[in-house]
Amino acid sequence: MTETPLTGLFAEAERQLVICNACRYCEGYCAVFPALELRRSLTEGDIIHLANLCHDCRDCYTACMYAPPHDFAIDPPAVFSAVRRDTYDRYLPRLPRLPGLSRLGLSRLGLSRGRSATMALAALAALAVLAVCAFAFAAPSRVPGSPYRIIGYPALVSAAGLAIAWGIAITCWGAFRYWRDTGGGFTLAGLAAATAAAVTLRNLRGGGADCAYPGDDPSPWRRRLHHLVAGGFLLCTASTVTAAISQDFLGDPPPYPLLSAPVLLGILGGAGLVAGCGGLLLLKNIFYSHRTDGGITSRDYALLLGLLVLSVSGLLTLVLRDTAAFAPVLVIHLCAVVACFAIAPYTRFVHVIYRFLALVRDSASEVGG
Ligand code: HEM
Ligand code: SF4
Ligand code: SF4
Repeated sequence: MTETPLTGLFAEAERQLVICNACRYCEGYCAVFPALELRRSLTEGDIIHLANLCHDCRDCYTACMYAPPHDFAIDPPAVFSAVRRDTYDRYLPRLPRLPGLSRLGLSRLGLSRGRSATMALAALAALAVLAVCAFAFAAPSRVPGSPYRIIGYPALVSAAGLAIAWGIAITCWGAFRYWRDTGGGFTLAGLAAATAAAVTLRNLRGGGADCAYPGDDPSPWRRRLHHLVAGGFLLCTASTVTAAISQDFLGDPPPYPLLSAPVLLGILGGAGLVAGCGGLLLLKNIFYSHRTDGGITSRDYALLLGLLVLSVSGLLTLVLRDTAAFAPVLVIHLCAVVACFAIAPYTRFVHVIYRFLALVRDSASEVGG
């Protein structure tokens, strides 16, 4: 089909997609099948694009008359999640191995040694920066409930800023290579359509009946809980931005009262993250799907647990800010923030960027006709 024949996982994906393209029974289910129909032959980049466009709703598998035990063994969600796992690994730079790392058991998170080493190095470096900054810059504030009683503002900004800059740089590196391999495609109208598809998670609804998850019957819960997680994350980001604006542009440093934008956004966002991540973890424990690549499922756990630690420790800093427990809880929260941003590009977090780029490319080709 292509000038360079596909091999391994990509050859298997191509085999299944050729059958789907002839069958077309699922063309109304999601964006994957109409995008597939536009292609008479498939490149590796096309398969990566389609895999990231698939939202793993599983409706095609549930409906398929050629699914195992049929000889055709058609299982798009399974092959797509294996391709996504390959994609997430492929576009990241690797750092050298750390001796003795295998004993830490990070491979149980579905991470190869190279990735484990990189994540461990990034987290350790970020925590070291936090420690050095904390000693180098005294905490000058004496205001009760202020974080600057525990750690100076320059220390906070240096440590968090470096971890965030590292996370963004590595993610952009991966996103650039992904965009180049999948062929890109951008229009403003496509961007707007992709944003709408991402906000509503339209493709997670399958044929409209919703996602066959956690069991084989349609259920809206994965989509609803994901809305809580993604919305919570965005509200927490907005809380941090409004706090920075209040402090640096309006001359109003923390602590902020309960009825202020940073605190209200933080409470709502934190509550969304706790409810969403807790609910998704419960769904995962009720049902384990063989259709999702095992490595991807481990990374779901890693992201969900990381977000839970961030949100619970963040809410506790607010509740306990006038007590003696404030200092240890704030230190735990800051360490969690710094470590999570440092390792974010090596976790499931990158699905946010790859999936969004897949939607942008798909919408651009739709809008462009
Ligand atoms: C561009 C916007 C986004 C899209 C299109 C998107 C899409 C998806 C989809 C389709 C899944 C489930 C299937 C899979 O990947 O295998 C998923 C899982 C997940 N997403 Fe997102 N997502 C987006 C943004 C976010 C944001 C901002 C967060 C929060 C930081 C987030 C957190 C998660 C988590 C924790 C999971 C694992 C859920 C589970 O256990 O099933 N996502 N996302
Ligand atoms: S998943 Fe099965 S039913 Fe759906 S298009 Fe492919 S072959 Fe046809
Ligand atoms: S989004 Fe759903 S219907 Fe579409 S390919 Fe993925 S699992 Fe199948």
